[in-house]
Formats: sequence, C-alpha cells, structure tokens
Amino acid sequence: MDYQNILLEEKNAIATITINRTDKLNALNHQTMVELKDVFEYVKSNNLIKAVIITGAGEKAFVAGADILELSKLNVVTGKEFAEFGQKIFTAIEKLGKPVIAAVNGYALGGGCELALACSIRLASENAKFGQPEVNLGIIPGYGGTQRLARLINSGRALEYILTGNMMDADEAYRIGLVNHIYPQEQLLSGAEKLASKIIAKGNVAVKMSLNAVNSVDELSESEGLKYEASLFALCCGTEDFKEGTSAFLEKRKPEFKN
Ligand code: COA
Repeated sequence: MDYQNILLEEKNAIATITINRTDKLNALNHQTMVELKDVFEYVKSNNLIKAVIITGAGEKAFVAGADILELSKLNVVTGKEFAEFGQKIFTAIEKLGKPVIAAVNGYALGGGCELALACSIRLASENAKFGQPEVNLGIIPGYGGTQRLARLINSGRALEYILTGNMMDADEAYRIGLVNHIYPQEQLLSGAEKLASKIIAKGNVAVKMSLNAVNSVDELSESEGLKYEASLFALCCGTEDFKEGTSAFLEKRKPEFKN
C-alpha cells in the first residue's frame, strides 16, 4: 500500500511510524486510520521488525485527534461503525505482540491520546500535551479512551479530564504515570530508539510473553492471570533463550540471544 499520511522507516529491527499530516496537526482522518491498520498488519507479520516507535511529524503535534470535519458528518449508525473501526485498530496495536513505544512530541488529544494509550510505553517531549477534549464537541472518547485512561491513571482522574476536556502537560503526565520519561524535543526519538534497542536485545520470546502477560491484566481475574503467567513462564523455560540466559549468568558472561 502506498501511504499518503504515514511515513515508515525500518532501521536496526525497529519500525518508526510517523503520522504525517502536519497541516491538520496529524489529525486521524479515515485515510490515515486505514493506513495505520495496514502498517501495523505489516509490522506484525514482518519477523525482522522487533519493536515499533510511533510519533507525529513536525514539532507541534503527535496527533491532534480524530479529524473533526469527518466527525461532524457522523450519525447514530455511522458513529458506531466509526468507533468500532478505531477501537479495532487500537486494540490490534495494544496486542501487537511487539513493544510499541509512543514518542509523544506535542498535542496528543482525543484519538491521539487514545493512540498513545494503546501503546506499550509512552515517552513525551517537554511540550507534549495530553487530553480528551471530546466533551467540547458533544461526544465522548470513542477509540478506547474511557477504558484505557481510567485503567492507567484511575477513574477519578480520567473522569476529570474527560468531563472538563482539560489538557495535561508533560510534567503532570509524568507525575501521574501516564508517561515514563520526558525529553527535550530533539532528544525524544533517540530516547525512544535507545529504549527499543535495549528491549529487543533481550530474548524475543520473553519480551513477547511479558507483553502478553501484562496486557492480560485488565481481562483476567487475579487467579486467572496468575495461571496464565505460570503457563507463559513454563513456555519460556522451553526456549533456547532460557538456556542461553541462565548459562550466561552462571558462566559470568553476557547472554547472546539469537533474535
Ligand atoms: N481535526 C481536524 N483538523 C484539525 C484538528 C482535528 N482534530 N486539529 C487541528 N486541526 C487543524 C485546524 O483546523 C487547522 O487547520 P486550518 O489551518 O486548515 O484551519 C490546523 O489543524 C492547525 O490547527 P490550529 O487550531 O490552527 O492550531 P492551534 O495551534 O491554534 O491549536 C489545538 C492547536 C490542538 C489546540 C487545536 O487545533 C485544537 O483544539 N484541535 C482540536 C483538538 C480536538 O478537539 N481533538 C479531539 C477530536 S475528537
């Protein structure tokens, strides 16, 4: 597929996906969502790609939300289809089975905030701003924001942002655990690459199983989750990576995982 609104770069087993619609602050119109769906399918199926970074083009925005011109045309029937389509794509990102790092380099509003929420880890530049301003448009978040924001930062805090449409700056996002680190804007991507490289140097199966186990936390009860964790742990014990990791430790050398 030829992309109009997305740039894809592959380097050192890391795919960097850049939403590139700067004249509209990288707002997610339908075309961009179709391209996002396609690019994540590609990234999932390509075994040479071990981690993904997603960011926005330009210095102002990660993604300033769903495209409001397109939103304005929705009705009760198409609104449901719209939300379900977006939710499906963001859930596929969440369950990619590879780490996805959001490098939030400016406004992450509405669908942009929801996109960041669906990623495994969020990093922010100093000028990043997060928010769910849908209430200003007479709607609610529809790409998973009511669920993922409430789980990540607790329901009281999530409700304040969702009910007021207030934006939160990078410091606040860091303080409440929405982002893991803050960088000066020009260092954000290299910070994300460093983190991705560190992760992909570990055993591939252990990385995948860690993602699966932690992602199950919202779906399983604690006892089901513990059973699931034990099964995934057992699976790791049957891998070459396990033999290599444990032998390397005992032989006082660095492990060399065959990824
Ligand atoms: N959908 C469509 N277009 C958008 C957009 C969106 N979500 N966000 C920004 N744009 C467009 C603006 O309409 C403008 O286009 P134009 O130059 O053709 O008029 C361009 O991007 C630049 O935005 P502008 O509003 O001029 O920038 P700003 O710096 O003054 O304000 C924001 C930045 C992010 C505060 C403001 O653009 C905004 O509030 N955007 C909407 C955020 C939102 O509600 N998102 C949730 C949607 S569910």
